[in-house]
Amino acid sequence: MGKLIVIEGIDGSGKSTQLRLLSERLKRDGVPFQSVRFPRYSREHSALARLYLSGGLGDSPGGVNAYAASSFFAADRFVSYKTEPWGTYYDGGGIVFADRYTTSNAIHQGVKLPARERADFFRWLYDYEFRLLGLPAPSAVFHLALPAALARERISSRGEGMDIHERDGAYLAECAECAGAAAEVLGWTAADASRGEADVHAELCEAVRRLVG
Ligand SMILES: Nc1ncnc2c1ncn2[C@@H]1O[C@H](COP(=O)(O)OP(=O)(O)O)[C@@H](O)[C@H]1O
Ligand SMILES: [Mg+2]
Repeated sequence: MGKLIVIEGIDGSGKSTQLRLLSERLKRDGVPFQSVRFPRYSREHSALARLYLSGGLGDSPGGVNAYAASSFFAADRFVSYKTEPWGTYYDGGGIVFADRYTTSNAIHQGVKLPARERADFFRWLYDYEFRLLGLPAPSAVFHLALPAALARERISSRGEGMDIHERDGAYLAECAECAGAAAEVLGWTAADASRGEADVHAELCEAVRRLVG
């Protein structure tokens, strides 16, 4: 088994930006790795996740069962692991970086439950995906912690179409709170994402170097 390093955080926290910077850096340094971004939007195994995100089960995320939606994203990951190159690469000992993972279910689905039920949900999620489905458990999760108001500004300036999660400001704020709870229960490594991208990048590089040598 290799190493799976996950970059997690609410929408707009800078996950894709940081994975891009990290990839550029590792390539320059000649470090072999692969990366994957979830959901696998372009693949048919993400169909139920896409149906959900586009509002096909209702416009309000809170109206869609957290366990059902979690299963859609878990199934996308399962098929991706079994059929896409990163799965074999990881099994053979390679280093894989993921932009979102099971950890995104903790944030975006855990938030739908009352705060007192969230810790049990997080544990269910890890048990379901890593033990029962046999997906790789992350070697480390870097949590890009960012207040919802800042994330909102970044999402609007990104200028892309928005899904049912991104359109809902209150949901985003609750996600930021739920992400903090998940980070604590599940032992994620926090990075302050309100700083400039270069500063966040330097911190992630240092953490990755400690992990992979
Ligand atoms: N540290 C940062 N400071 C300011 N803006 C940022 C920072 N990191 C990313 N951004 C910008 O914020 C937006 C969201 O970043 P992105 O990487 O797409 O986040 P995510 O993948 O977590 O949704 C993008 O327009 C990006 O250029
Ligand atoms: Mg992104």
